[in-house]
Amino acid sequence: MADTDTLRARNADFWDRTAPGWVHQADRHDQFGRPLGAVALDWLRPQPGERVLDVGCGCGGTTAEIARAVTPLGSAIGLDLAEAMVTTARDRFTAPDGAGPRFVAGDIETLDAVPGAPFDAVYSRMTLMLLADPVAGLTTVRQAMRPGARLAATVFRDGRVNPWLPAALLGAAAHLGPLPPLPIGEEPGPFAFADPARVTRLLTAAGFTDIGIQPYDVTLDAPDDPEVVTEWLIEIGPAGAAYRDAEPTTRSKARAGVARLLERFRTAGTDYRLPTGLWLINARSDRTSTP
Ligand SMILES: C[S@@+](CC[C@H](N)C(=O)[O-])C[C@H]1O[C@@H](n2cnc3c(N)ncnc32)[C@H](O)[C@@H]1O
Repeated sequence: MADTDTLRARNADFWDRTAPGWVHQADRHDQFGRPLGAVALDWLRPQPGERVLDVGCGCGGTTAEIARAVTPLGSAIGLDLAEAMVTTARDRFTAPDGAGPRFVAGDIETLDAVPGAPFDAVYSRMTLMLLADPVAGLTTVRQAMRPGARLAATVFRDGRVNPWLPAALLGAAAHLGPLPPLPIGEEPGPFAFADPARVTRLLTAAGFTDIGIQPYDVTLDAPDDPEVVTEWLIEIGPAGAAYRDAEPTTRSKARAGVARLLERFRTAGTDYRLPTGLWLINARSDRTSTP
């Protein structure tokens, strides 16, 4: 496994280069990607008046949903490494009078303190497995929580139960040239939290208690529009930066390559149904800890 500094630099570079694709896909991802975090939101049940942190908030759709749940008197703060996504989140969800969720740019692993802490609850959709030093990141999260506060997060299980993920990369890769290094073993990446025993160890080391890790199988449902669906999946994945740099004809070939591999998940004239295997992670900060 590469050392932490290398992994952290790789992660920062990856999100810097991939963020424009996420910005372009923000509305579609809010719509098609909602099942990726719905179970965690159900478990967390943010209440009016609570302060909630959304770790790795991307372009802010989930933070905005949480902000609606904690109104009135509560607050929602979205934190993300990628400046471009934080700027987009602010543009999308800050009301003209300045009300609404707040968004902060920062690396959860290296922040001394999270603005807005202490939190009653922390939410994170599809981010924790990307941390270069998960114990450092989770410790910052736990220290930002009130004693006994709750955490709910989703991460992918493994490649076998998320077949569209490798399909979206393999179908495009042949056309797009060099891509970022693929993670090996427990290196940060989509399947780095595949082993629930490892996840339990990391959460325990960061000071969490009452840890639960449950499998959930969900379906991402998107309209039968191959151009739209393939571009969404390419732009939010590891081929996204190369895709955005490519010529229109190359992009078109990349979309066609992905469409071929996704054909088995398509019902022509109806929709795409992408099977997705998640872990729902829930935990509490130690009731005796000091924030
Ligand atoms: C897979 S995306 C998920 C975004 C959003 N939660 C969603 O589900 O749409 C992972 C997000 O985590 C952010 N991220 C990765 N490492 C991070 C870190 N160390 N600190 C804060 N954010 C991080 C990335 O910039 C990216 O927006």
